Amino acid sequence: MPSAANAELLDRLKYLRDLQDRAARIRKGVALYYDDPVGFAANCMRWPDGRFLTDYQCSILEMLGKPQSDGAHRSRVAVRGPHGLGKTALAATSALWFALTRDAAGVDWKIATTAGSWHQLTQYLWPEIHRWAGRVRWDVVRDGRRFTRAELQNLNLRLNHGSAFAGASANAALIEGAHADSLMFIYDESKAIPADTFDACEGAFSGTGEALALAISTPGDPAGRFYDIHARKRGYEDWRVRHVTLAEAVAAGRIDTGWAEQRRVQWGETSAVYVNRVLGEFHAGDENSVVPLRWAEEAMARWHEWDQAGRPEPAGPHTVGVDVARSGEDRTVLAPRRGNVVVELRRSVREDTMQTTGRVKGILDADPDCLALVDVIGIGAGVLDRLREMGCKAEGFNASAATSRRDVTGELGMANVRSAAWWSLREQLDPSASPDLCLPDDDMLLGDLTAPGWKVLSGGKIQVESKDDIRKRIGRSTDDGDAVVQACWSDSVDFPLLGSIPVEGIAEVLDAKGTWAVRPEDAGPPWAQPSTVERDPRSGTVQRSPFGA
Ligand SMILES: Nc1ncnc2c1ncn2[C@@H]1O[C@H](COP(=O)(O)OP(=O)(O)OP(=O)(O)O)[C@@H](O)[C@H]1O
Ligand SMILES: [Mg+2]
Repeated sequence: MPSAANAELLDRLKYLRDLQDRAARIRKGVALYYDDPVGFAANCMRWPDGRFLTDYQCSILEMLGKPQSDGAHRSRVAVRGPHGLGKTALAATSALWFALTRDAAGVDWKIATTAGSWHQLTQYLWPEIHRWAGRVRWDVVRDGRRFTRAELQNLNLRLNHGSAFAGASANAALIEGAHADSLMFIYDESKAIPADTFDACEGAFSGTGEALALAISTPGDPAGRFYDIHARKRGYEDWRVRHVTLAEAVAAGRIDTGWAEQRRVQWGETSAVYVNRVLGEFHAGDENSVVPLRWAEEAMARWHEWDQAGRPEPAGPHTVGVDVARSGEDRTVLAPRRGNVVVELRRSVREDTMQTTGRVKGILDADPDCLALVDVIGIGAGVLDRLREMGCKAEGFNASAATSRRDVTGELGMANVRSAAWWSLREQLDPSASPDLCLPDDDMLLGDLTAPGWKVLSGGKIQVESKDDIRKRIGRSTDDGDAVVQACWSDSVDFPLLGSIPVEGIAEVLDAKGTWAVRPEDAGPPWAQPSTVERDPRSGTVQRSPFGA
């Protein structure tokens, strides 16, 4: 048995021999840039109009190319920063540098790419690899031989001595199973990558070969492995971290000041979404938001999965939430929803009620199963009246009406229908309840959903911040969020009951009970009447008597 000292010596000799072998091989072509990713980008890629990588992209690539200590090349780099600074482009460039230089040097290599969502790999990272591959100067790199279709495929690259592939972030085993003398791990949108997938690369770092890791993301919750690395927690000192600031990204021309300013106004300077996406920093926490940012982002990732799966028809009720503009600056927003999917947002500005009515009717005519839920405070009442007059399936949503709805635990009541509906959306997005609700990926919607705060009133009722208070605080109204909340509210009030009765039928039921004497916009929709809906606090089930009975 060799002693520990002997084993170490043998390792060292093996490494020196490898280095000599490599040095003998890498004397020409792209292999000259084996340790120099910036040189690779400068000399092996085309850069029109005198453009080049930004300064921070260069410094990050240099960090990656430079070994952390003597001995085998090891390098772990984590980058956080604002949306659009060029993180994914950086990952793509480094993947091409690594693949082409190692392959030219005859080194056995592999690149494992993963990301917080599958959609990030298929829609951003790999298309970006293809895009930057289109800039490679093949005359310098492979004697004019471009990648063939067999070499560069949608989600993988196979060359003579190695390959790059995409793996789902939930599949830590796939990452762990990557073996080669020279390994690179790329983690895009790392904030959503589970800790064990991060750790899966550690085996490579404890071996004798070359190992590089690049983790990039806009920040999310101050929790999880990506956060721990940036917070310099014990055990992650091997990672070198870089925060690219908004000022750097603006100075480099990658982010437009107008965009940043617009987001500041739209989202509010202290909102989690602004701090994460524009400042590129972790936010101290958004526990006071009715909908935490991460929950909304996860719902948007699910929407992409549904979209990529070819938009299969979801089971469940069809609704359209209609938030009618109350002032000239507000927008009217329609949010059509099918089962667990809010399909899209349709917005319009300065539209009169007849135009809005026409657009809603268009949706209802095209989908006879659909029910419109119209905000009836203010001019929305006119839209509802007209829809009803035309025999359309439409109900009023009266945010200020009373409700006997309680939260999922049965412990807390709701100050009004607005609070109940927003809280219901929160419960439909709560990760602890395995949510399936999908929301369209939209910056404005994200800002709206995370804007309202909440508190518990002394009487044990949840109160969600009012539209007016939000407008005073952030200078705009949350039209997109409200339309989505309305579209998703019907479930909570036993929508199938309403949906199964034609509108005329509902009117008859109501008339027979004599409850229609009060117009819904004055009293709130039938389901909002305290006597109609009771939740059993122990079982959590809703006991319901038909409207007003
Ligand atoms: N140095 C550069 N020169 C030219 N184009 C670039 C450069 N860096 C990035 N880009 C382009 O800018 C766009 C945005 O970059 P990229 O997607 O890499 O940003 P990101 O930081 O990953 O954004 P997100 O936060 O949305 O993930 C892409 O089209 C990319 O090709
Ligand atoms: Mg990106």
